[in-house]
Amino acid sequence: MDYLQITGGAKLSGAINISGAKNSALPVIAATILSDKPVTLTNLPNVVDIRTLLKLLTILGGEVEHNNTIATINNGTINSTKAVYEIVSQMRASILVLGPLLARFGECEVSLPGGCAIGQRPIDLHLKALESMGATIEIKGGYVRAEAPNGLKGAKIIFDKITVGGTENIVMAASLAHGTTTIINAAKEPEIVQLCEMIKEAGVSIEGVGTSTLIIEGTGQKPLTFKEIKIIPDRIEAGTYLCAGAITNSSITIKKANAMHIQATIDKLESMGCCFEINNDEITIHPSSRLKPVSLITSEYPGFPTDMQAQFMAVATMAIGESVIEERLFENRFMHVSELNRLGSDIWLKGSVAAVRPVAELNGAEVMATDLRASSALVLAGLVAKGVTNVHRIYHLDRGYDDLEGKLSALGAKIERLNNRV
Ligand code: UD1
Repeated sequence: MDYLQITGGAKLSGAINISGAKNSALPVIAATILSDKPVTLTNLPNVVDIRTLLKLLTILGGEVEHNNTIATINNGTINSTKAVYEIVSQMRASILVLGPLLARFGECEVSLPGGCAIGQRPIDLHLKALESMGATIEIKGGYVRAEAPNGLKGAKIIFDKITVGGTENIVMAASLAHGTTTIINAAKEPEIVQLCEMIKEAGVSIEGVGTSTLIIEGTGQKPLTFKEIKIIPDRIEAGTYLCAGAITNSSITIKKANAMHIQATIDKLESMGCCFEINNDEITIHPSSRLKPVSLITSEYPGFPTDMQAQFMAVATMAIGESVIEERLFENRFMHVSELNRLGSDIWLKGSVAAVRPVAELNGAEVMATDLRASSALVLAGLVAKGVTNVHRIYHLDRGYDDLEGKLSALGAKIERLNNRV
């Protein structure tokens, strides 16, 4: 199995490009099911999750040409509506095919994604919303079987909780439904805005894009025709590299980023003493030589993203006082704590709150990645830990970070991908 070997202590400098957003590319790829004509996507990140979802489309009968950052997808040839366990179990976001398959074909079967490392992550809100749109849903043999033989009907949907994936599934379903769907308490993430803009460009009326109320006029099962779509920059990758600048006390520049999408991350790094220069799509971080502690609570966009919580915990280990980090979205998203403590940090957990106490230094050790963002926190800590840190189980990282070791090496980090052939 591959692992990353990092020799800590190198100062970083220079610039790297931010890739397209995995979490935007996934719903955009799922949305191509709403069309029976070829569509080209550009600026895709070169990560495993994208290849997994494209593979699912080919299993459904779609035709996919994929070359690094570009894919052309023709879902006019789909001849199956069964999203099989073998793929869905590899990636929870495969549940995003549920809404578009049901809306276009009037029936589908999608494997239940099950729990995952960071928490239970149920899909009850997706299913309840589709039922209010007239779908009959049955769960049998580990699969969700959904039917709406005469198409879905527009409905008023009030999400009890803000859900990114749930909002995406219902936006896609509503775009081919009969009549008007109103989604109240919708998620407002930039990835949802990109999905809505793509569907609007295809001629569907969507009011309230970027707000918590979306009003969508469905086409009544008429497939959409999309224009070429360029995936927006990955705000979590961008935030992770800014954290690399902050933790190593280095000035670095990220290019092809969108500062507006990472305001909460920038604000928190500023509160720790870092400074920023922003020039169109280029952001330079100037670090603070005495990092101040941080206090943060994760929340939905535009609040502080749960997907940046682990990376900030790594940065907080280097602050001069005690930081307090509260996780409000996922019940088990602190698995990086014990691994960071193996590197010498002093982090205490009580329920959903972590106290990060100052330590003089971190020391290299063997650590294990437990989920995607936890993995990048361990890499960040490895950049400053004395000696060698080996980060194992990096298949988590490969799901969502495009060439992490290549980009960090370009900035001057001592990091190498090795294989222990186990
Ligand atoms: C998406 C992101 C993920 C990010 C998360 C929160 C993708 C592919 N993944 O995940 O990186 O961490 O948003 O910003 O975009 N919930 C329910 N019932 C449901 C659906 C969700 O209770 O039917 C709960 C979840 O358990 C969680 C909260 O709602 O506590 C938010 O989850 P959700 O926004 O749906 O996250 P994902 O779309 O899975």
